[in-house]
Amino acid sequence: SPTPVNVTVTGAAGQIGYALLFRIASGQLLGPDVPVRLRLLEIPQGVKAAEGTAMELEDCAFPLLAGIDIFDNPTDGFAGTNIGLLVGARPRTKGMERGDLLEANGGIFGPQGAAINAGAADDVRILVVGNPANTNALIAASHAPDVPSDRFTAMTRLDHNRALSQAATKAGVPVSQVRRLTIWGNHSATQYPDLFHAEIDGAPATALTDDSTWLTDDFIPTVATRGAAIIEARGASSAASAANAAVDHVRDWVHGTPKGDWTSAGIVSDGSYGVPEGLVSSFPVVSRDGRWEIVQGLEVGDFSRERIDASVKELVEERDAVRSLGLI
Ligand code: NAI
Repeated sequence: SPTPVNVTVTGAAGQIGYALLFRIASGQLLGPDVPVRLRLLEIPQGVKAAEGTAMELEDCAFPLLAGIDIFDNPTDGFAGTNIGLLVGARPRTKGMERGDLLEANGGIFGPQGAAINAGAADDVRILVVGNPANTNALIAASHAPDVPSDRFTAMTRLDHNRALSQAATKAGVPVSQVRRLTIWGNHSATQYPDLFHAEIDGAPATALTDDSTWLTDDFIPTVATRGAAIIEARGASSAASAANAAVDHVRDWVHGTPKGDWTSAGIVSDGSYGVPEGLVSSFPVVSRDGRWEIVQGLEVGDFSRERIDASVKELVEERDAVRSLGLI
């Protein structure tokens, strides 16, 4: 039987972890023929709850689950890792300034990047979910000089899926008929969900883009602030939908995106579309042969340019802040 793939999940005892681990173990991440060995990484206070989740994973008797180990330090947590889902992060608490938030997360993602550099498998692929996801990915990558930087990605797939759903509802079609939309920039309220290249049932989505009031006052803010709306309604932040998006991201990365479509992911910029090289920004991407490639040659009009630039400006500010804190 094939060698199990080592999947490390950080923040394993958290709510996204709880929604994610069972899907990985059931085969939805890598497919029905690939056994997985889970490595759960938590802080010491989270270990007991992670042990409880591990007991439940055992009780599912998943045929593909080859083993579960729990760690409270990144060195062991990332030893031999093929796929790392970096979910655990330091949330913003009351009165916390942005600099404090970046610094606290630098203290998590710097050491995790170093542990990945030291001990992960040669084919390691990293998805950062924990916020601020783009800048956390940048910090981790900068501590892993021996790992190609294209192996570090940040999750904007939840934003992408939210945008697909909103666009489908507006157009009155199933989500499967909406293709080629893009999330640009930061996974934050400045993100820009772009419908100008989108297709509905194979035709340009002009019915949506011509409605500039809907676009500006409804679609863009609804997608960009959906996370806050979920918190308001549920009393807790998005968890199942975030886990679902993480599964979508990794599955497409490993197995490829469908022909004729693309998706969105935060990847290290090569300078495309005027996004400064080295920033982790969301782009339209396809996955081929296990690598993300930015979709090239899309026309970017003034409406889009202004919004992409605003989100990229925020990414530059975050990068400059972590640089001045000595975190990268
Ligand atoms: P949660 O608070 O339920 O769980 C976080 C877990 O991470 C806790 O169990 C905590 O003990 C653990 N943790 C903290 N520091 C750690 C470290 N250094 N190493 C290992 N584990 C650590 O949070 P939840 O709801 O699961 O969310 C996790 C993160 O995902 C948050 O930062 C949230 O903002 C982010 N998120 C990102 C989304 C995206 O689209 N990129 C969407 C939704 C959430």
